[in-house]
Amino acid sequence: MELKVTGINKSFRSTAGEEKVEILHDISFTVREGSFVSIIGPSGCGKTTLLRIISGIESPDNGRVLLGDREISAPVRDVGYIFQESALLPWRTVQKNIEFGLEVAGVGRKEREQRALASLELVELKGFGGYYPREISGGMKQKVALAMALVVEPRVLLMDEPFVSLDCQTRSYLQQVLLHVWEKTGKTVIFITHNVEEAVFLGDEIICLTGRPTVVGTVVPVDIPRPRERTSPELNRVRREILLFLEEERQKAGAR
Ligand SMILES: Nc1ncnc2c1ncn2[C@@H]1O[C@H](COP(=O)(O)OP(=O)(O)O)[C@@H](O)[C@H]1O
Ligand SMILES: [Mg+2]
Repeated sequence: MELKVTGINKSFRSTAGEEKVEILHDISFTVREGSFVSIIGPSGCGKTTLLRIISGIESPDNGRVLLGDREISAPVRDVGYIFQESALLPWRTVQKNIEFGLEVAGVGRKEREQRALASLELVELKGFGGYYPREISGGMKQKVALAMALVVEPRVLLMDEPFVSLDCQTRSYLQQVLLHVWEKTGKTVIFITHNVEEAVFLGDEIICLTGRPTVVGTVVPVDIPRPRERTSPELNRVRREILLFLEEERQKAGAR
């Protein structure tokens, strides 16, 4: 099922006064089923707002989000969301955190346990179900967040800078885990980051957003076979292309 974003506009009233500030301007793109799309853009350009609109948490002023032929206008089970900082329930074990969404959905105990265990295994956390959030590292917490999203079997995963607060090595490792999960499950992934290396290493395609009012500046395909080598000349070439785009955008923003 294809995900289609068409003609999204969004303005917010500035805190200072009555004036409305346009954040997103006529954003359109299509994400093929099963593909991995990275979205990159300067800080404050509206990436989180866009992702919230795609998830149905926030509504656009204009435009639509379609999953197949269904319009998304409120959160649905088919679309999972993973935040920058995972929000685990501190009084529940990892296993019980993962089961939470299934409890809400009324899934029985036995099935909950089995599905949570399968998700734990998928994110390489087998054996950690009995730990409490305070007992695990930041990287493990993000894995739990991924397992929590996966366990309800969404078609689409929306990820908002999920690895931003992790150290370099943990980040690389979680990127591998995510790619592994993606390859194994065939989910459609929309991954927001402001890290060019990350965007290029992970994505089939990079959607580059401009500064505000934000439009889709360019869409860069990454036709590089997987598994990819982080330091390969091909990846470097795409990385350069995006860095140049972002630099041009910075200069334009400076001139405004
Ligand atoms: N609910 C809101 N009310 C008013 N302004 C908002 C709201 N949400 C986001 N904004 C503003 O929209 C802009 C884009 O925010 P955001 O989507 O978080 O950007 P990004 O994720 O790209 O850094 C920011 O200037 C932010 O202050
Ligand atoms: Mg953001």
